[in-house]
Amino acid sequence: MSAVHVIDHPLVRHKLSIMRSKETGSKDFRQLLREISLLMGYEITRDLPLSDVAIETPVSPMTAQRVVGRKLAIVPILRAGLGMVDGLLDLVPVAKVGHIGLYRDENTHKPVVYYCKLPEDIQERQVIVTDPMLATGGSSCDALDMLKERGCTNIKLMCLVAAPEGIAKVQEAHPDVDIFVAAIDERLNGDAYIVPGLGDAGDRIFGTK
Ligand code: PRP
Ligand code: URA
Repeated sequence: MSAVHVIDHPLVRHKLSIMRSKETGSKDFRQLLREISLLMGYEITRDLPLSDVAIETPVSPMTAQRVVGRKLAIVPILRAGLGMVDGLLDLVPVAKVGHIGLYRDENTHKPVVYYCKLPEDIQERQVIVTDPMLATGGSSCDALDMLKERGCTNIKLMCLVAAPEGIAKVQEAHPDVDIFVAAIDERLNGDAYIVPGLGDAGDRIFGTK
């Protein structure tokens, strides 16, 4: 069974509270999502391997450390996952970025794939999938399936707000994928929206409603 990490640092809680408010507009919503993504990214990248490297400071030689090994790829689920990319790129500017386009059918709530473009060597990379909302878990599970079909073996899922139903679905279908969230909310409503949640993340990021 995969692990669920709740990153509930006071700054993350504070920023998420502002994002949840219906009074918060798109500009602030986007900025806060970027800031939270950076804070979460700090924890998500905690296990990046390091190797020793000989350097010289202005004062003396020393053995320092640098990140090595598997390279990183960030894969947002369009559209809303895009809002988490820049915060992660602030931390790891050399990461490659792939895109998976999925939307939820309004009636069935089932994901529909419309786009997939990934780095050619994606299977050699450590992959962080980003999507602010883990509701039924259908979109995340399909994105994880697509990555595994292309040979990825080292994947983490990074979400902002999750419903217990979505976590359970991902854990069952992808027990090897650890999940990182800022908050686990109560439940889904009849429209499969997270309660209390923050509404439609894509619309709030891009101002489309
Ligand atoms: C939202 C969200 C997730 C999905 C979560 O996307 O960004 O991708 O719903 O729901 P699920 O866990 O039940 O699959 P949406 O379909 O609204 O598309 P958008 O990001 O393009 O607005
Ligand atoms: N997608 C969203 O954007 N919000 C939800 O609450 C559920 C799915």
